[in-house]
Amino acid sequence: MAYTSKVISFISLSLFLSYLNSATSQNHCLKTACSRNEPVIRFPLRIKNRQSRSCGFPGFDISCGSSNETLLELPSSGKFRVQAIDYAGQEILINDDPENCLPGRILSLNLSNSPFSGLYYQSFMFFNCSSSDYRKYGLNPIACLSGSTYTVFATSSLRIVDFLQTRNSSCNLTRVVPVPVIWPFYQEILSSDLSEDLLLTWDQPDCGKCESRGGRCGFRTNSSETVCSNVPHRDFSPYKRV
Ligand SMILES: *[C@@H]1O[C@H](CO)[C@@H](O)[C@H](O)[C@H]1NC(C)=O
Ligand SMILES: *[C@@H]1O[C@H](CO)[C@@H](O)[C@H](O)[C@H]1NC(C)=O
Ligand SMILES: *[C@@H]1O[C@H](CO)[C@@H](O)[C@H](O)[C@H]1NC(C)=O
Ligand SMILES: *[C@@H]1O[C@H](CO)[C@@H](O)[C@H](O)[C@H]1NC(C)=O
Ligand SMILES: *[C@@H]1O[C@H](CO)[C@@H](O)[C@H](O)[C@H]1NC(C)=O
Ligand SMILES: *[C@@H]1O[C@H](CO)[C@@H](O)[C@H](O)[C@H]1NC(C)=O
Repeated sequence: MAYTSKVISFISLSLFLSYLNSATSQNHCLKTACSRNEPVIRFPLRIKNRQSRSCGFPGFDISCGSSNETLLELPSSGKFRVQAIDYAGQEILINDDPENCLPGRILSLNLSNSPFSGLYYQSFMFFNCSSSDYRKYGLNPIACLSGSTYTVFATSSLRIVDFLQTRNSSCNLTRVVPVPVIWPFYQEILSSDLSEDLLLTWDQPDCGKCESRGGRCGFRTNSSETVCSNVPHRDFSPYKRV
């Protein structure tokens, strides 16, 4: 009896070790960050020019800015400041530097060539008003898009749109833009300066389950297949579930 259980333990241990050894190319892809207080970068993200191509999934390139800030490079929309990354939830929060103009970046945001998409979209209508008018409406102007003779607002409220269009106001509807907001807003937003973080999510690679079990995703060595490794084992199960 004791012998049998020893044999079984031995077999389990071998399977366990071979499981740990199932070499992923992640072994040389140590987690890193742009600086000590910045988000940890690991697969599917990688820091370009610091980690090899195989450390990240195509389209998940990060670079570090001049003050060591973490930047996500979106193919058609440029670099955004990374605020936080949820590897298990497959979500990333982005913004722009405060001295820049996030609403301007939102107007030209195009995620179609990137692996990312919004989780919750809210439609914002952009209005351009002659500047003398805006105080009348008590709306919150977007300073960085406004000039000395005009003021720009964004609203998600159809009541405001209706109001501005029927009151013979000097405000022209210029754009309707789906904004990838952090929360699913059920309430209309009367006017927003659109300075809040944007929430992006990704479907592929699907490493969320692996991450939430404490494992790490990566490419299998010399392959484009994604595997889950280093899952802490409670039951010595040799089966790999990605
Ligand atoms: C950026 O990081 C480098 C190396 O860690 C450090 O020497 C430098 O002072 C940092 N720069 C800023 C602006 O924090
Ligand atoms: C986004 O970019 C794609 C590819 O470059 C283009 O086909 C599409 O029309 C763009 N979408 C918008 C809303 O500009
Ligand atoms: C708003 O209107 C002004 C004057 O007509 C124009 O110069 C400006 O580019 C417009 N801005 C936007 C964001 O539509
Ligand atoms: C709104 O449109 C009208 C008519 O096209 C134009 O005369 C006016 O200058 C526009 N207002 C702004 C702020 O762009
Ligand atoms: C709208 O306002 C303009 C000037 O601001 C005025 O000339 C015009 O008569 C007004 N139209 C209506 C329908 O009130
Ligand atoms: C991966 O490819 C490199 C170069 O093509 C080769 O030297 C290496 O032995 C390969 N590794 C494995 C585990 O197949």
